[in-house]
Amino acid sequence: MKPLNRRQFLGAAAFSAAALSTLRTRAAEAPTAPAPTPTTGPATAAPRPVKLGLIGCGWWGMVNVKAAYKAGGAQVIALCDIDSDNLATTAAEIEKLQGSRPLTFKLYADLLAVPGLEAVIIATPPHWHALPFISAVGRGLDVFCEKPLGYDIREGRAMVAAAAKSRSIVQIGFVRRQSPAFRAVRDFIASGNLGRIVNVDAQINFTAGTVSPVATTPPPSLDWDMWCGPGPLIPYSPQVGHKNWRLEKTVGQGHLYDWGIHLIDATRFVLGETAPRAVTATGGLYQLAGKITTPDTLTAQFEFARCPVTWRHRLWGSTELTPEFNNGVFFYGEKGTVFATDNKWIVLPAGKGAERQVTETKADLVPLHMAEFLDAVRQRKPVSATIAEAHLSTTVVKLAMIAYETGARLEWDAKTEQITNSPEAAKLLQRAYRAPYKHPYSA
Ligand SMILES: NC(=O)c1ccc[n+]([C@@H]2O[C@H](COP(=O)([O-])OP(=O)(O)OC[C@H]3O[C@@H](n4cnc5c(N)ncnc54)[C@H](O)[C@@H]3O)[C@@H](O)[C@H]2O)c1
Repeated sequence: MKPLNRRQFLGAAAFSAAALSTLRTRAAEAPTAPAPTPTTGPATAAPRPVKLGLIGCGWWGMVNVKAAYKAGGAQVIALCDIDSDNLATTAAEIEKLQGSRPLTFKLYADLLAVPGLEAVIIATPPHWHALPFISAVGRGLDVFCEKPLGYDIREGRAMVAAAAKSRSIVQIGFVRRQSPAFRAVRDFIASGNLGRIVNVDAQINFTAGTVSPVATTPPPSLDWDMWCGPGPLIPYSPQVGHKNWRLEKTVGQGHLYDWGIHLIDATRFVLGETAPRAVTATGGLYQLAGKITTPDTLTAQFEFARCPVTWRHRLWGSTELTPEFNNGVFFYGEKGTVFATDNKWIVLPAGKGAERQVTETKADLVPLHMAEFLDAVRQRKPVSATIAEAHLSTTVVKLAMIAYETGARLEWDAKTEQITNSPEAAKLLQRAYRAPYKHPYSA
């Protein structure tokens, strides 16, 4: 195949499809592909194995490792985790899968020093992305880092700056950039089929499963102080521990920040939008108060140049009249409406009696995204979920959470990355790190 130039590559690498699996009652953000074989992706000739390290041996870390095996051409040579049980279990599983045991460490700094290491996967919770990322690119390693980019907007800026100083390949885990459904919707809209887009509505409603929020002693294998890291040292409970940190304000920052961000990224991709000029958000804890610390009900409005984009979520009582629309994005145009979700897109042209056109799509997003990264590492070529795009999408959802927190309509100057109308809100662009950790941003 003729190699693509950067523009062709970025165009071809767009968004794709998948349905969502459940993590307990949480319909987790993990896209599940209907068929195990990628429809496109890894080349058939055995590619050179890339020597990988894994930082964060939890749920999604192993999903990424398996995606790398499926993509082909990956050998995991080192792991680290601050939970010795997760570290040991993952080392044993990887040894079984690849036939060689990776080196194991508690500290990411030790993993980064392993001779021969080429690239790392960062699959820690979001407040633990920035520091390992900056160290890794500082050492010239290539990085596959999970979304959201970081905890705050200034971390993101520091990560972008560190990546720019390096020659590292960086892919962020916005797997829906591989989706045929979102890609087709982008092309459909770009060809003028909907006329002017007047409004966009994105949403993911589901019933969030919760576990005990009562403070208790952390498991002996887990270094809880280090897990909290640069964030505040919060009391441990299963509801803020492994996997469940998503709905905790000091860590995952809630459903929009954690999962909705995928659809915000997809919406920006489809519209070709960058950053909103203003953001409002309202909602609250109406059903899960005392269990979680982020809104169980939220509406956020983003004023993009092209049109307003509205986000809605409800984490309870998902007894929906139209459950097929629980997870997806509506694009409302002058000539009709498109609904896009992971594995399907639907067109409803304007006018009486117009018939819906439904297109189902299939793709194994996570292996495709990882295959693209591994190919880029081998061939030094661009990826589709760049750090610049990831910083923009993370900025959008962080602004919504700041607007929710402060109750202010935030005006955003994207060029200077400043909130221009609320000094109180502007303070939340950067969180103070807990000693001895040092925030990586410098103005
Ligand atoms: N792209 C996607 O579709 C997708 C899906 C799920 C999760 N994710 C992302 O993957 C990341 C991990 O999520 P998860 O569900 O696997 O979380 P998890 O809680 O299951 O696992 C995180 C692991 O990181 C470890 N860890 C924490 N701090 C560490 C540190 N300083 N050094 C080394 N290890 C550390 C924890 O002990 C734990 O084992 C998150 O950023 C999440 O947003 C992405």
